[in-house]
Amino acid sequence: MAATTGGGEKREHLYKVLVIGELGTGKTSIIKRYVHQFFSQHYRATIGVDFDLKVINWDADTLIRLQLWDIAGQERFGNMTRVYYKEAVGCFIVFDVTRVSTFEAVQKWKNDLDSKVQLPDGSPIPCVLLANKCDQSKEGIVTNQSQMEEYCRDRGFVTWYETSAKENVNIDEAARCLVTKMLENDRKLNLGHEDKDKDIVAIDNQGGSGKSSGSKFACC
Ligand code: GTP
Ligand code: MG
Repeated sequence: MAATTGGGEKREHLYKVLVIGELGTGKTSIIKRYVHQFFSQHYRATIGVDFDLKVINWDADTLIRLQLWDIAGQERFGNMTRVYYKEAVGCFIVFDVTRVSTFEAVQKWKNDLDSKVQLPDGSPIPCVLLANKCDQSKEGIVTNQSQMEEYCRDRGFVTWYETSAKENVNIDEAARCLVTKMLENDRKLNLGHEDKDKDIVAIDNQGGSGKSSGSKFACC
């Protein structure tokens, strides 16, 4: 679809990205920081699933829409994750560096993910591990860089980042890493093939398809 009204044409990619991990690890906070540049100490558990959209002007030719699925930590004990994971092409698993139990649960989340969603060629979806709340003092394996790297290699994570939603540490970097991986997979597997007609969109000076249609929007 390529109606031009002043600006250049961009190739558009829509990627569904999951954010999962134990209760209170900071999933919602990471998304709010990333999309809305906002942080609150006030904790309200997510119920079920929440959504946000981040629009990234990746380069001169590429617009990325990240549809972020913020899945409640309590969902690990429910049956809904299979429904939520459907058609996702990327994932963040989040743990809290101050609570070892949340790291121990990472493997359970990864197993749940890999058993319920795959790329069209059957391979696991790329997953980046986020060691969140790094503005606070750390506990356990996360204090050892090389052990963390080995852990990620052994368990099929793309990589890991220490993050802080509070202090805005490494969230953009982690997202860039995951997007790079999803673009690579897209080139190999043509993940967006069902949207081919919509692949080319016009971005005009009034906003065009890059403009917010609601409050859940941000563009870097
Ligand atoms: P559920 O929705 O229950 O699964 O939790 P969640 O993973 O979405 O956690 P949420 O983002 O609601 O954060 C839980 C608490 O941790 C809140 O009080 C946040 O303010 C706090 N928090 C989140 N990220 C950080 C961080 O990077 N540093 C610090 N110090 N606190 C954080
Ligand atoms: Mg939440």
